[in-house]
Amino acid sequence: MKKKVLITGGTGYIGSHTAVEFINSGYEVVIVDNLSNSDLNVLEGIEKITGTKPVFYKLDLTKDEEVEEFFEIEKGFDVIIHFAAFKAVGESVEKPLKYYKNNLFSLINLLVEANKHNINNIIFSSSCAVYGDTSDLPVTERHPVLKTTSPYGNTKKIAEEILQDNIKVNKKMQVIALRYFNPIGSHPSLHIGEKPVVTNNILPLITQTVAGLRGQLKVFGNDYDTPDGTPVRDYIHVVDVAKAHLVAAERLLKNKNKSAFEAFNLGIGRGISVLELIKMFEEVTGQKVDYKITGRREGDVAEIWADPTLANTELGWKAELSIKEALQSAWEWQKILLNK
Ligand code: UD1
Repeated sequence: MKKKVLITGGTGYIGSHTAVEFINSGYEVVIVDNLSNSDLNVLEGIEKITGTKPVFYKLDLTKDEEVEEFFEIEKGFDVIIHFAAFKAVGESVEKPLKYYKNNLFSLINLLVEANKHNINNIIFSSSCAVYGDTSDLPVTERHPVLKTTSPYGNTKKIAEEILQDNIKVNKKMQVIALRYFNPIGSHPSLHIGEKPVVTNNILPLITQTVAGLRGQLKVFGNDYDTPDGTPVRDYIHVVDVAKAHLVAAERLLKNKNKSAFEAFNLGIGRGISVLELIKMFEEVTGQKVDYKITGRREGDVAEIWADPTLANTELGWKAELSIKEALQSAWEWQKILLNK
């Protein structure tokens, strides 16, 4: 019997790449998404890569009655991979309640049903934002979860706490929180990629600028205490991030986890500044990025990169694709979007 996995936010950027990995590994995949930041064409992209079109439900996870109904129709999940969330740091500073409502109500509704239907394995889409503005770099999972610098980050921190509190009352529940650093790039098949309706992340903004779809790229601040003054991040290929979910799910299904709640950093372990990233993009693609330095963006931290040792040794996962491959694939994907 195929294992059955629910992927919330599965038409989104990381969700769709993860759906591909699960289908290719023989799982039955059901996707729910409210399509607020993705579209249905993603399902065709997944089908082109895997030969299978996943079952899809348009569902707003904040609506408890609809969530309840969904779990009455679709039964027998072995694992839930929970991606569905808003993720724009800047927007979350401006609209905190939108973020708290969406990201936390969704999780709570999902957990109520998971508890009710005896679905005991959850992989949660967390973020390095839970480490707050730390100078203790590279950051390990032993680092305390701190006050975050944005409501977005805070939703991830609170969500991890909700998951842990729920484990205390549902002793069968086991959770792995994957703390992403900065996923970039597209699937090498170029059938799926990052296609946000709301764009705030650096790489789609770079490719859209180069494609002439928007004006100059704004580099948010060059007065940080970093080597070139621009913020430093740990960029990682989205396919590597997707693969970690499969490894994490199998860890739970085989009861290899060491505790009911585990957290792993998903990063390469290398810090790259915004200007370095732009330069690498230019080198790899041969395209010029028109940018200007502007003021800082609220909610940004100066620098953060991962110590991925725990994920490498304990989870048995390691990033294999290069940043250059990610940058190249992002640009190839942007060119495809232009012709669609
Ligand atoms: C944040 C989270 C990350 C999460 C992501 C989801 C932190 C530390 N990281 O990433 O875990 O996965 O949100 O969206 O909170 N930049 C520009 N100009 C732009 C856009 C971005 O200069 O137009 C810069 C930012 O200042 C930042 C870097 O590019 O230094 C990356 O920004 P972005 O792609 O938005 O991701 P983070 O905010 O780092």
